[in-house]
Amino acid sequence: MNVLVTGGAGYIGSHTVLCLLNSGYDVVVYDNLCNSSYEAIKRVEKLTAKTVKFVEGDIRERLALTELFKTNNIDAVIHFAALKAVGESAQIPLDYYQNNVHGSLTLLEVMAEFDVHNFIFSSSATVYGEHNPSPYLETMPLGRPTSPYGTTKVMVENIMDDVSKSNEKFRGISLRYFNPIGAHESGQIGEDPKGIPNNLLPFVAQVAVGKRAKLSIFGDDYPTTDGSCERDYLHVMDLAEGHVAALTWLQDSAQFRGVEAFNLGTGTGTSVFKIINAFEVATNKNIPFEISPRRDGDLPAFWANADKAKTALNWQAKRSLEDMMTDTWRWQSANPNGYNN
Ligand code: NAD
Ligand code: UD1
Repeated sequence: MNVLVTGGAGYIGSHTVLCLLNSGYDVVVYDNLCNSSYEAIKRVEKLTAKTVKFVEGDIRERLALTELFKTNNIDAVIHFAALKAVGESAQIPLDYYQNNVHGSLTLLEVMAEFDVHNFIFSSSATVYGEHNPSPYLETMPLGRPTSPYGTTKVMVENIMDDVSKSNEKFRGISLRYFNPIGAHESGQIGEDPKGIPNNLLPFVAQVAVGKRAKLSIFGDDYPTTDGSCERDYLHVMDLAEGHVAALTWLQDSAQFRGVEAFNLGTGTGTSVFKIINAFEVATNKNIPFEISPRRDGDLPAFWANADKAKTALNWQAKRSLEDMMTDTWRWQSANPNGYNN
């Protein structure tokens, strides 16, 4: 099976490409490298001793995509390519709608033109919005996300639903990720944010390696167990394996038409203080921190109900919080400047 992976040079994409190759799939990666490095692909090839067909390009470029589908026999598409910085999305919303929504539309149009109907989309827990109680269940109504970034995810999920109603061949899966952290156990590939990290673990790792003086904890007065926010952190390799499980499910479910959503999380919330403690214990590094004001748009706590993925996809997050911390540290300490060492 030949799988097109858009955004396959990125953080989750590169780990997923590795798992796909190890599971015997052929992979074509299409990425404009706006937030990633070709070095990630080279390392995946080295780790798997397999080759990846890489095409540099933008999902909004219809001609380039058409050429790609013309010259490759694509059976399924895993669509990671998107801009993902929540704060930035409020400053330049049109760029986010342009990239994430228009890009997805163009991709879906070209897929239909070439009679390709298997589509796995990178969605997010943010689609549940502010008002659904945790644990989030796939049957809950989509909410109103607190950022334009989140809105692009809801929009693409809605587009998939409409496409499936109009095209009886469409087979879509929406994977709603919770908070992926960690890195491949080799320490060779991992998360390499540009500039100051927005997300918790990359920031903690950069403090540990001496690139940042201290962590700011955004709020310690939430109505949670210790006052800091709680999230459902899962190992990026578990998440990557979730994509292989979803693809296998599509292959095994020949009769399936429509769209199915699956939460990919562990089912447990962990607070910021607990993350810091787990990182310190696992790595023996001290993480200085200060308490800062709450961050706009942060929800106090949310986590997944991941039963549907367990029952239907036979997928479950297996790696521990300790694995997430040691693997983050192995990657960060071996690559203090990410792929630009
Ligand atoms: P990432 O930025 O590391 O990867 C995204 C990749 O897409 C990058 O390689 C980037 O260069 C590429 N890309 C962006 N716009 C493109 C375009 N127009 N054309 C071609 N390539 C383009 O991000 P990630 O963390 O690996 O996230 C992957 C997907 O998962 C995204 O859709 C993101 O919204 C979603 N997601 C991520 C998280 C998370 O915590 N990382 C959580 C929920 C959902
Ligand atoms: C954020 C996005 C979410 C996106 C996800 C992955 C927001 C509101 N949500 O999720 O839409 O899918 O990233 O890209 O931005 N924290 C600190 N100090 C820091 C960084 C984070 O205390 O320097 C805290 C945050 O307040 C939060 C937790 O750590 O409680 C996790 O933050 P983060 O990694 O940014 O993930 P989310 O906020 O869950």
